[in-house]
Amino acid sequence: MRVLSGIQPSGRPHLGNYFGALRQYINLQAGNDPFYFIASYHALTAIQEPELLREYTMGVAIDFLALGLDPKQAALFTQQDVPEVTELTWILSCVTPMGLLERAVSYKDKIAQGLSPNHGLFAYPVLQAADILIYLSDLVPVGQDQKQHLEMTRDIAGKFNQQFEEVFVIPEPYILDSTAVVPGIDGRKMSKSYGNEIGIFEEGKALKKKVMSIVTDSAPVEAPKDPSRSTPFLLLKLFASDEETAEWEARYKAGGMGYGEVKKRLFQLIDEYFAPYRERRRELETDTDYVMDVLKEGGLRARAVAQQVMHRVREATGLRTTY
Ligand code: ADP
Ligand code: TRP
Repeated sequence: MRVLSGIQPSGRPHLGNYFGALRQYINLQAGNDPFYFIASYHALTAIQEPELLREYTMGVAIDFLALGLDPKQAALFTQQDVPEVTELTWILSCVTPMGLLERAVSYKDKIAQGLSPNHGLFAYPVLQAADILIYLSDLVPVGQDQKQHLEMTRDIAGKFNQQFEEVFVIPEPYILDSTAVVPGIDGRKMSKSYGNEIGIFEEGKALKKKVMSIVTDSAPVEAPKDPSRSTPFLLLKLFASDEETAEWEARYKAGGMGYGEVKKRLFQLIDEYFAPYRERRRELETDTDYVMDVLKEGGLRARAVAQQVMHRVREATGLRTTY
């Protein structure tokens, strides 16, 4: 089965990215044929500083490998190493109704945040559809916020298949209920664009400070509390064993527990969980040649598939080339 997903190099990955997406990337490696890429064309809609884009792209590649992505099983590559996706984007644009794009929640969200929109931001879901369809992907692991983009991809694939030929596979999203929306330190969805994230590779004092600053209500220590509405508990649940989670749940409900206590434990759990990955990351940072080789090889593997599919797309649409 072709598993495919992408992540924008728009900053350092955070706990939401890890539990919502990256962990599934790793878990789905064995026995599948996964393609994971760094969505730099998408990031260009917002990041227009070349140095920064290069730095984040390399950073995300190192993060993936440090977290256990195995280049023998999965192709890891950058989006721009398969320029055919931009060609497919144009072709798909011509079967995408304007109304479909106008309903895109993420576009509306970004405008609401005050971003002045460029055409790339508006056309973003078509590029994402091309990313997915060009590799005939079956399964796309993502967080809840990408659900609408997956629905749009399915619609666009259907429109193409109907208008021309059945070239594209209709992909399925893979979204785990338990980690669909990881909250950030202010209780909203954790996101780089809200500045409320805890980075996967944060550690020590900086990490502790972040965790201790998680927003909670002002219920006194004695009061019984509702764990299901408490950010420290919701994050702790991602790391703690079932037994420990049940204990904290009982303590919340009984009262007599302050939020400081649960935050301290959360800090320890995050720090311990990622310690081996931080170690691996430090090693990879000193071996950027290896990382570049992995990206290069992954790009070649992915591009070979994309070129075959594009040949079929050109034939199906009547866009025959002369060479
Ligand atoms: P951000 O919102 O921080 O810019 P991205 O858009 O780069 O994150 O997301 C990359 C992947 O991580 C996507 O699959 C997305 O659905 C997932 N993801 C992002 N934030 C969360 C979150 N808070 N909870 C669960 N999944 C998330
Ligand atoms: N839009 C996705 C995000 O912000 C990134 C992305 C681009 C993607 N192309 C994709 C995710 C293809 C899955 C499949 O997270």
